[in-house]
Amino acid sequence: MTPRHFLRFNALSAGEFEQLLTRAAALKATRRTHEKRLAGKSVALFFEKPSTRTRVSFEVGVHELGGHAVVIPPRDSQVGRGESVADTARTLSRYIDALVVRTFEQERLEELAQHATVPVVNALTDLHHPCQVLADLLTVRENKGSFASLKFAWIGDGNNMANAWIDAARLLDFHIVLACPPGYDPDPEVLGRPSARLRVVRDPMDAVDRADVVSTDVWASMGQEEEHAKRLALFSRYQVNEKLIAGAKPDAIFLHCLPAHRGEEVSAAVIDGPRSRVWDQAENRLHTQKALLEFLLLS
Ligand code: CP
Ligand code: NVA
Repeated sequence: MTPRHFLRFNALSAGEFEQLLTRAAALKATRRTHEKRLAGKSVALFFEKPSTRTRVSFEVGVHELGGHAVVIPPRDSQVGRGESVADTARTLSRYIDALVVRTFEQERLEELAQHATVPVVNALTDLHHPCQVLADLLTVRENKGSFASLKFAWIGDGNNMANAWIDAARLLDFHIVLACPPGYDPDPEVLGRPSARLRVVRDPMDAVDRADVVSTDVWASMGQEEEHAKRLALFSRYQVNEKLIAGAKPDAIFLHCLPAHRGEEVSAAVIDGPRSRVWDQAENRLHTQKALLEFLLLS
């Protein structure tokens, strides 16, 4: 039987997603006392890029569910010496019950998943970061109740986070507007056909108008470090600062997946201010990923 993978956000149905968020909230409420449903199971964390939150939240999450996490950091496996991801997936599948992977191209993740006989979870690729958006949506639900009449504004790079948010908006049917500099739009295949509820604009003020949630991310993602200086100049009007966020609804919240660069994509006043929910977001990685692992391994 083909295992159930989570390679991008729309791998779940809207109903499954709702069920998963409800379970994540329950796991959050019972963190120290819930049952250890992954007892006897092992999860490999195979990372080809750096990480703080994803790696630690998965490792701690597996532990809290009674399982065992095996962390394989960048350059620490035979992949660094040329072993294929296909052979790595075949081998690891003989030892472990799920494989959490952070890598570069989405195709590399897909190839790995194709050869794995256990569930594979996308812990970030160049194209998608669905585990982060799971946590973000729990944070939104905690603050806004539901997604039904939500307007979400994305400001800055049309990157892996923007793509995952587009998947989420389409699946859960909320309104999303992304303000990106010319040449930095989200992936065209992920974006598909724009509509009144899914648009890319150039002016960040247009995007934040009547928004309930405003989010951004670094201007140069992992692997784009050499473009940093060029991007600083091109992205300067896309900083989320007090002036910009004042254009959103008075009760709008600010999200950032972290790590953040204060003074670049966000001002210190916003990320450290009253609208910011970034620490809840970071914490929610733990609870949502625990629910995701239970869902993929046990249902
Ligand atoms: N937001 C996030 O994925 O952070 P890390 O790169 O630290 O895992
Ligand atoms: N877009 C960022 C997200 C980091 C969590 C990156 O890919 O580096």
